[in-house]
Amino acid sequence: MDTIHIRGGRRLKGAIPVSGAKNAALPLMTAALLTDEPLRLSNMPRLTDVKTLGKLLAHLGAELSVEPGEHADTTTIRAADIKSTTAPYEIVSQIRASFWVLGPLLARCHQARVSLPGGCAIGARPVDLYIKGLQKMGAEIDLVEGYVVASAPGGLKGAIVRSPVVSVGATHTLLMAATLAEGETVLENAAREPEIGDVARCLVAMGAKISGIGTSTLRIEGVEKLHGATHSVIADRIEAGTYAIAAAMTGGEVTLEGVDPETFDAALSVLRAAGAGVDTEQGAVRIFRNGERLQATDVVTQVFPGFPTDLQAQFMALMTTADGESEITETIFENRFMHVQELARFGADISLHGDKALVRGVPKLKGAPVMASDLRASAALIIAGLAAEGETVINRVYHLDRGFERIEAKLGACGAEIWREKA
Ligand code: EPZ
Repeated sequence: MDTIHIRGGRRLKGAIPVSGAKNAALPLMTAALLTDEPLRLSNMPRLTDVKTLGKLLAHLGAELSVEPGEHADTTTIRAADIKSTTAPYEIVSQIRASFWVLGPLLARCHQARVSLPGGCAIGARPVDLYIKGLQKMGAEIDLVEGYVVASAPGGLKGAIVRSPVVSVGATHTLLMAATLAEGETVLENAAREPEIGDVARCLVAMGAKISGIGTSTLRIEGVEKLHGATHSVIADRIEAGTYAIAAAMTGGEVTLEGVDPETFDAALSVLRAAGAGVDTEQGAVRIFRNGERLQATDVVTQVFPGFPTDLQAQFMALMTTADGESEITETIFENRFMHVQELARFGADISLHGDKALVRGVPKLKGAPVMASDLRASAALIIAGLAAEGETVINRVYHLDRGFERIEAKLGACGAEIWREKA
């Protein structure tokens, strides 16, 4: 297994081009199943999760072609014939977003058999909201031997679905299902994450009738058929936020290129509150710190537009050397603190109390061998390693490759001493 090595203590200085968002690219790929015409997606990130989902789509009968570009790929997916409506355990267990083929398969083929999902080990992650929503739209659903077996003879019907919990995945699934349902569907308490808006805009380009994009009430008037389209994936706000935190951690100055600052405004506000400098302009954000120690700052993870759970681990790494005590509350996933014990290896002082982590800032971290437990936790370990004295070795970096494109190259170009050793 590959390892990533960092000799810490260097300030990051330079510019980082931000890639297309993994969490938009994946649902956008599944949207290709809604039509027999080609869906052309540009600004696609080069990530193992994208490849894994590509394998699933190919298994279902889609044809995929990838045109490599200088900074990003363009992927064209054509699902002219759906040959299978079964998404097997072997693939779905590797990546949670592959479960989301349930919506488009059921909408277009009126049946689907999809393995219960896997993904990052950050909590129980049930799928009850998906199932209840689809049932409201007329689907019959059984759980058989670890598979969700769904059918909608005659097609899905529009319905009012109010979700008790805001769920990104359930919103993607029900939104796609509704595009081809008969009549109007209203999704109340829908997720408002920018990736949902990106997918909704792509669906509109494919001929879907959707209003309320960007709000928590989505109205979808079902159409008989969707057609092909071309769409550019939005920039990855979590990748951008991660590099912003890395810049603040090392006391450097980094310009993030190709981002929409509004999509990670909550993170930028918290960085400002902690004492980092943040300048935003159209399509770019500059993060800097003038050498003074950051101030301990509390955060509570929330659904968009709140502070994202996908930046919680990275922000905790930042707080390990801040002045004072910060309280970090995780409200979205109940088990998203696996990075705490790894940060302790650097000398961080963190105690856990239910859904809260209390971080007492220490003056310095020391490099250590550590183990990545999930995707965003691995990024937190990189951030700690960049600031720590001495060498850090990160094991299980396959987690990182799922969601961060060329992280060593991007950080290396800003002066970090970071390299990968192949197993
Ligand atoms: C998406 O996961 C993202 N994944 C996650 O990013 C992200 O952390 C999460 O949204 C929250 O923003 C992708 O976009 C591929 P949810 P998802 O359904 O859709 C509960 C990363 O690192 N819930 O919004 O799985 C659930 O348990 C990943 O890139 C139910 O109770 O998250 C959780 O507490 C990790 N029943 C809450 O809702 C359900 O049926 C929010 O989960 C569904 C969800």
